[in-house]
Amino acid sequence: MTVATVGVHIVDILARPVEQIPEGQDTVLVEQIRLTAAGAAAGTAVDLVKLGNDVITMGAIGDDELGDFLVAVLAKRGVDASRLVRRAGEQTAASILPIRPDGGRPSFHVPGANLGVTLADLDPDVLRRARAIHLGGMDVTFGLGDPAFFALLDEVRAAGTIVTMDLLSELPDLLAMARAFLPHVDYVLPNESQALLMTGDPDVATAAATLLADGPKGVLVTLGAAGSLVLTSGGPERVPALETDVADTTGCGDAYCAGFLTGLLHGRDVVEAARWGTAAAARVATGLGSDAGLTDLESTLRTLA
Ligand SMILES: Nc1ncnc2c1ncn2[C@@H]1O[C@H](COP(=O)(O)OP(=O)(O)OP(=O)(O)O)[C@@H](O)[C@H]1O
Ligand SMILES: [Mg+2]
Repeated sequence: MTVATVGVHIVDILARPVEQIPEGQDTVLVEQIRLTAAGAAAGTAVDLVKLGNDVITMGAIGDDELGDFLVAVLAKRGVDASRLVRRAGEQTAASILPIRPDGGRPSFHVPGANLGVTLADLDPDVLRRARAIHLGGMDVTFGLGDPAFFALLDEVRAAGTIVTMDLLSELPDLLAMARAFLPHVDYVLPNESQALLMTGDPDVATAAATLLADGPKGVLVTLGAAGSLVLTSGGPERVPALETDVADTTGCGDAYCAGFLTGLLHGRDVVEAARWGTAAAARVATGLGSDAGLTDLESTLRTLA
């Protein structure tokens, strides 16, 4: 096993294109509706498998039909979902995303079982065996902000495991709390608004510096179509996005994380790995849903040439 993904698991229900909610009881025909396994752990897990990694995902879902769907789709995509905890009477997290003609993605969201994840839901042996651990959405699975989990992360990192972390929400209080993880992870990958909300800083460069000072080896702030800012002790570097035909940007951040981590696992340096992330994200922007457009590592890397 190569990678363990830990954190947020969501069923995404997407439709495109949507310009507005219809009046009254009107029905508007759309081109496409999809259901996907998404969220900062599940969506990234699917992308990591496509990029050639073996992946086990951990977190909590409900015992409802959405949970059945999530388990079935993760298995179909080749993610080991056998460690997911199913909670009786709880709702599996879900989002409804009416995707705008320009690829923009407003959403309606139920956080459900993600809010209750704790260290007791994780298998420490899986974490100890992993070459890399991706923490997806630690602002939402805030129960993992636990000294015992931090000690486990420190233990595996001392043994050479790479730990990356992504965020999910736009909620200032939860994002500020998630800063407690930073001394215990190698790389943190917030998007622009998350970086600003985590720190209270007025601009991305300052926010990245503030987050780096908390202890990780690198901070990668994704900036949508503007690419990303990569900050390490070696200084800042801007990585431009790849130009692509955008259908839906849902999951671009997850794909960026998956490509970045895959690059690191292939021995690439941080900036080159960020380019792998950029390439994976550009693929995902071409289709509806967080897994669409991305197929395999070779074709993804070809877009960088
Ligand atoms: N319109 C676009 N065209 C090309 N690449 C894009 C576009 N939007 C995003 N990307 C790529 O995806 C990366 C991540 O995008 P973004 O900053 O929107 O992530 P996010 O908000 O975390 O998304 P997610 O919903 O997955 O959490 C960017 O750094 C960029 O490389
Ligand atoms: Mg994101």
